[in-house]
Amino acid sequence: MIANKKIILGVCGGIAAYKAIELLRLLTKAGADVHVIMTRAAQEFVTPLTFQTLSSNPVHTELFNLIAEQEIGHISLADQADLFIVVPATANIIGKIAVGIADDMLTTTIMATKAPVLFAPAMNVNMFSNPIYQENEHKLRRLGYLFVDPIRGSLACGWEGEGKLAAPEAVFEGAHAALTEKNLRGRTILITAGPTREEIDPVRYISNHSSGKMGYALARGACRRGANVLLISGPTALTKPDGVRVVAVTSASEMQSEVMARVSACDVVIKAAAVADYRPLVRNALKIKKKTESTTIELVKNPDILAELGAMEQRPFLVGFAAETDALAENAEKKMREKNLDMIVGNDVSQIDAGFNVDTNRALLFFRDGSSCDCGLMSKDQLAGAILDHVVARLQTR
Ligand code: CTP
Repeated sequence: MIANKKIILGVCGGIAAYKAIELLRLLTKAGADVHVIMTRAAQEFVTPLTFQTLSSNPVHTELFNLIAEQEIGHISLADQADLFIVVPATANIIGKIAVGIADDMLTTTIMATKAPVLFAPAMNVNMFSNPIYQENEHKLRRLGYLFVDPIRGSLACGWEGEGKLAAPEAVFEGAHAALTEKNLRGRTILITAGPTREEIDPVRYISNHSSGKMGYALARGACRRGANVLLISGPTALTKPDGVRVVAVTSASEMQSEVMARVSACDVVIKAAAVADYRPLVRNALKIKKKTESTTIELVKNPDILAELGAMEQRPFLVGFAAETDALAENAEKKMREKNLDMIVGNDVSQIDAGFNVDTNRALLFFRDGSSCDCGLMSKDQLAGAILDHVVARLQTR
């Protein structure tokens, strides 16, 4: 979504201006062509040279610049932009745009653009709660301007409270969402992710190598498309995606209860979790001591959550995953049929660039109507996009 997009990064005068540098790096790393406009006050905090070096584009600071004005700088930037992001957005800039003041390069360009504008406010807690500011923000939201809410924390001014700039990653996520078509708006999507853990005793468990990255990428992707996303996650080291409701579970049985309790409200269920197939028949209350040379743990089958969903009379659109080390197509198609799915994502987890614990995947998608699609090697974020494109297309014809 971000790659090759022309993004105008407006930087205002606030102590958080230095965090705009981190955002700029995230945007350029993702392939965006970023053009920075700094207000006069912003230049008191960070120099234009920093932004110019990191964006590889000239930084705009003056409305009446003789070189840029050959093509009327503010209008050409406004026309060419795919997205505006204002970081940190001060009470001043939000107030100015809310009442239509255009008296410098940044305000003039924002007023002239038809591109989406995303504000990431940062200010003193009392400024933030001031009804004048709140009214301005409310007005801009009503007019379709986008916001990444500030967070609570200790503020540079010494106060504690709401007004701290959201993390650069959250603003980056907001940029993604702003550039994504809302083709899942109104849909509720349940996604499971990560491994499950089946306890043997208080210190040991059976699990697998799943990192949860694929399921989390799907949750982020669905959220950007406007879906109401519920992520039921086994234990992972990943950060909770913004805007997603996360329910943490440990075992397959817990995952089963959480999924079954919520499925009736869902349009789509995507089961990316690597559910442990078996659990110990007995969970020892005390740590098992090593008394013998060898030992045996009796295992019993876990409930197959996806098969249970497939057997429902009124079931949502169902997407399964097939983690295979051989006969990928055959095994994946068999699972799709046996579990009564609409679609299955088959991946060969024996390859080093696919499956567990890596950022890339190679997947083959199989559909109920017999068709299939080879996605090749791509990042898990890109694969999540490809899977969701198919979900969107098939929901429309369902
Ligand atoms: N799955 C599930 N509940 C289980 C086992 C698997 O819901 N107890 C789901 C997974 O989330 C995945 C799909 O079923 O979407 C296929 O999982 P996979 O581990 O590839 O296959 P299994 O059905 O467990 O079969 P096998 O382990 O024999 O390959």
